[in-house]
Amino acid sequence: MMDEKFLPDKELLVKAVSLLCEEIPAGRADRVSSNFPVDGMDSSEVIDLLAPQILADAAKLGAPTSIAHMDPPTPTITWAVSLWNAALNQNLLHPATAPFALEAEKTVIKWLAPLFGMTGGHMTSGSTVANLTALWAAREQANVEQIVMSDKTHLSLEKAANILGLPVLKIGTGSDGKLLVNKLPDDLSRSVLVLNAGTTSTGMIDPLEAIGIAKWTHVDGAWAAPMIFTKYAERLKGIELADSISISAHKWLFQPKDSAMVLFRDNESASNSISFGADYLNEPNIGVLGSRGAKGVLLLATILSFGKRGLAQRIEGCVRNSEILSHFVANDMRLNLFANPETAVVVWRPSEPDYFDLVLNGLPEGSVSTTRLDGDLWFRNVFANPSADVETYLARLEEILKKSSTL
Ligand SMILES: Cc1ncc(COP(=O)(O)O)c(C=O)c1O
Repeated sequence: MMDEKFLPDKELLVKAVSLLCEEIPAGRADRVSSNFPVDGMDSSEVIDLLAPQILADAAKLGAPTSIAHMDPPTPTITWAVSLWNAALNQNLLHPATAPFALEAEKTVIKWLAPLFGMTGGHMTSGSTVANLTALWAAREQANVEQIVMSDKTHLSLEKAANILGLPVLKIGTGSDGKLLVNKLPDDLSRSVLVLNAGTTSTGMIDPLEAIGIAKWTHVDGAWAAPMIFTKYAERLKGIELADSISISAHKWLFQPKDSAMVLFRDNESASNSISFGADYLNEPNIGVLGSRGAKGVLLLATILSFGKRGLAQRIEGCVRNSEILSHFVANDMRLNLFANPETAVVVWRPSEPDYFDLVLNGLPEGSVSTTRLDGDLWFRNVFANPSADVETYLARLEEILKKSSTL
């Protein structure tokens, strides 16, 4: 007899979806008991118990004020397909159990890789794993003995170096936060050079013309690689010469977590160098992950729903909003801009250090993050949300600044 907890329960699903479409106020929930439950509850009661916590006690990434982090809202199409994914629970480790899901991933990789001059790759759970995978392939295929990167590079590259047992050489950055090419060692013939296409703190793109001077060049495009779809693609010029690229689909491709990819210029050789077989597998397991879910179908659904034009419009809108904020900051004596934003990350602060907390506390909750650069604290706005309302944000900022000047 089928276990009823595993059967499609339309009423339960409709209830869950209805709650998702409602505005649920935070804080009216009974908290989950700290005791491990001995007997299970009715699933509908579980939904009633958890909805006010899961749905209300979380940042609303599509809210007009949501411009703090590299976390975008997700399009509704991905909510729908995620439900199917959860129900099917396919495992791409075993192609026979997930034939379409595997094909979907291959399709999106086939669409995306050539835009970056790459021949292929695979999806990963995030760019931490994508970066690790790329450096692993560099070590296996190109025998690199050292990782060279700027001091503004994401910590995942240091983690990867640690795991792979490779030493790291950190290169200084200029006042704009970009790697200083003239500080690179002359001999990079045994090194992998990591360049950022969008650093985490400032969104800066390292000089991509340095691609090719090392034995292997990896571009960490976790954040900004999707600019390739836009009229700003020129900012990524040279990326097509990289040996490997990481891209977070759960950033500017608007995917639910955990979704990213690693792409290789010579995918066949790179993939072969990081493949393992086992008696219980019909095909070799490529890369770091073993079992992995069908993230490709979500990305496929999103690309079908947006098209290249739709992706471009949304990312360009984010860039436009970031420029409105950066122009405001640059033209206001009361504020300092770190540098002109390149990838919709605006880093700024009040000129008067005493106003830092005042401004921070006055801005809407969840609208700004902070970052430390060479010891100094800055505000950081990341425009990952196509529905951000920058004009209202600026009006609020103006109000706070006026108030602070009268103190
Ligand atoms: C530039 C950059 N690289 C790598 C990562 C790591 O990505 P993930 O959090 O998907 O593992 C991030 C995350 O913010 C990032 O900004």
